[in-house]
Amino acid sequence: MTELYERVQESAAYIRQHWPHTPVAAIVLGTGLGSLAADISAQVVLPYDQIPHFPRSTAPSHKGQLVCGTLGDRPILAMEGRFHYYEGYTLQQITFPVRVFKALGASALLLTNAAGGLNPRFRKGDLMLIEDHINLMGDNPLIGPNDERLGERFPDMSQAYDRALRDRLQKLALEERIPLHGGVLVALAGPSLETAAEYRFLRTIGADAVGMSTVPEVIVAVHARLPVAAISVITDMCLPDALSPVSLPDILQVAQQAEPLLRRLITRLVTTLPAETAVSSPASDTSKS
Ligand code: HPA
Repeated sequence: MTELYERVQESAAYIRQHWPHTPVAAIVLGTGLGSLAADISAQVVLPYDQIPHFPRSTAPSHKGQLVCGTLGDRPILAMEGRFHYYEGYTLQQITFPVRVFKALGASALLLTNAAGGLNPRFRKGDLMLIEDHINLMGDNPLIGPNDERLGERFPDMSQAYDRALRDRLQKLALEERIPLHGGVLVALAGPSLETAAEYRFLRTIGADAVGMSTVPEVIVAVHARLPVAAISVITDMCLPDALSPVSLPDILQVAQQAEPLLRRLITRLVTTLPAETAVSSPASDTSKS
């Protein structure tokens, strides 16, 4: 099989052929959050199965296409539907699009997901800006030979979530009067939801929300030196002493209800990003070395 680097280049070349722009940002729309794509003036829509080397989306409520267009007047890419570990992909496959966004010159990656609330102060439908994460997926997308053209062997994770993007999102949320918690996301492989004992454990180790995605993409974004921000919609509460069953339809319904706020926040963020984004990232922060 061709090397990851070459596959990324081929995929990026295909997208560039159909949409010859440099995206200010790439946005990944999580479970139940796809209608954010309606805010985008689409110029080209590429189904994943037509993009060389892209995996296909099998998760319910995930469409499986890359929307290329503008939000406000900013060129952006949006993934309508993401890939999950529980679908049977490797973490390298799941995070392949992140590599492609970097190759296309994106200046920022914005991730959204549906997550269960562990912090008892949260409520269903709340938004949480992810400040840090705990990877309990039992796997890592960087396992295997490291290609220095893509990133370094041991990427620093001390500031995985870009500080400038986070500050900007907090400020915009305040301006828009959108309540935005900050917190730690823990990622598990899924697809089974967690037991009460597991939720108790996850809260004890310092997590505010639990999900089955996002963390692999963040690890690869850091590896690729692509500044990343991520927001969770709290779709259900995972309180071990007051646990009630949840179903996918419930999760989708809450995600859809919360979506207008998320849409506003992301649209504001993208339209305030400088055309040539100069956000900070730990990798480009030379003061550390
Ligand atoms: N666990 C529990 N609840 C959830 C999750 C999860 O991974 N994702 C969305 N709600």
